[in-house]
Amino acid sequence: MGRMEGRVALITGGASGLGAEDARVLASEGARVVITDVQDDLGRAVAASIPGCRYLHHDVRDEARWEEVVAETLAAFGRLDVLVNNAGLVRFGTIEELSYADYKFQVEVMLDGTFLGCRAAIPHMARNGTGAIINMASVGGMKGISAIPAYAGAKGGIIAMTRSIAIHCREQGYRIRVNSIAPGGIVTPMTAQALAELPADDPGLQQNANHGMGEPADIAEMVLYLASDLGKHITGTNIVIDNGETIA
Ligand SMILES: NC(=O)c1ccc[n+]([C@@H]2O[C@H](COP(=O)([O-])OP(=O)(O)OC[C@H]3O[C@@H](n4cnc5c(N)ncnc54)[C@H](O)[C@@H]3O)[C@@H](O)[C@H]2O)c1
Repeated sequence: MGRMEGRVALITGGASGLGAEDARVLASEGARVVITDVQDDLGRAVAASIPGCRYLHHDVRDEARWEEVVAETLAAFGRLDVLVNNAGLVRFGTIEELSYADYKFQVEVMLDGTFLGCRAAIPHMARNGTGAIINMASVGGMKGISAIPAYAGAKGGIIAMTRSIAIHCREQGYRIRVNSIAPGGIVTPMTAQALAELPADDPGLQQNANHGMGEPADIAEMVLYLASDLGKHITGTNIVIDNGETIA
């Protein structure tokens, strides 16, 4: 028996990078997985490569679509045990450069998207009597990064919101654990694009890349830990996986 046998996971941003690897790892442990994204061709291809995995189109900013996605997950698999709020993107620009539109876009996808996901999933998990939510934060949300103030702000917000929602679930007596993960630089399409755009002496990602980037599995194994009974005593925390970036 796998560690996720009988459980159903919903993963946003599952067409690429960390979300796709989360889906592969959870499915390999027996989970039935729904991935959602806005990149439909990629999402369908990822789902086709994973046994028991389904793809749904979903822009995480779309409040009404959240209700449909949860309903479609329940219709397909009968329950919802795990939500990974993973969808994200980055737009570069310091506070002097970034437009308000680009600020809002990042905050809406990552912070609002995470809020909407938690709000849509919790009533169903509460009815199940158990659940695990994993929100994808970033070391940027802990230490600040001058080139990405909106991204860092959204991720810092995710860390604080995760804790607040975990406290709520505990106060309500729900056995729903809510945690965030803060990765440092991990090799994915997002960081490949960032490394190509950033100057070679950039004090953030480029210099940390010199210490060695992580692999998607480094994050997905922690998602499995928090999603499964391995993490049954962990809630309201932010797990940092950054090869020491935040202690340097
Ligand atoms: N890779 C890293 O080094 C790193 C570090 C810290 C945090 N993160 C976070 O991990 C998560 C995954 O990042 P990744 O590196 O795998 O990037 P990625 O670009 O490979 O994957 C992100 C996915 O999110 C999807 N997405 C973007 N906007 C969306 C929207 N509005 N609705 C639905 N889906 C949307 C994209 O289409 C993409 O498939 C993100 O939240 C990112 O901020 C990544």
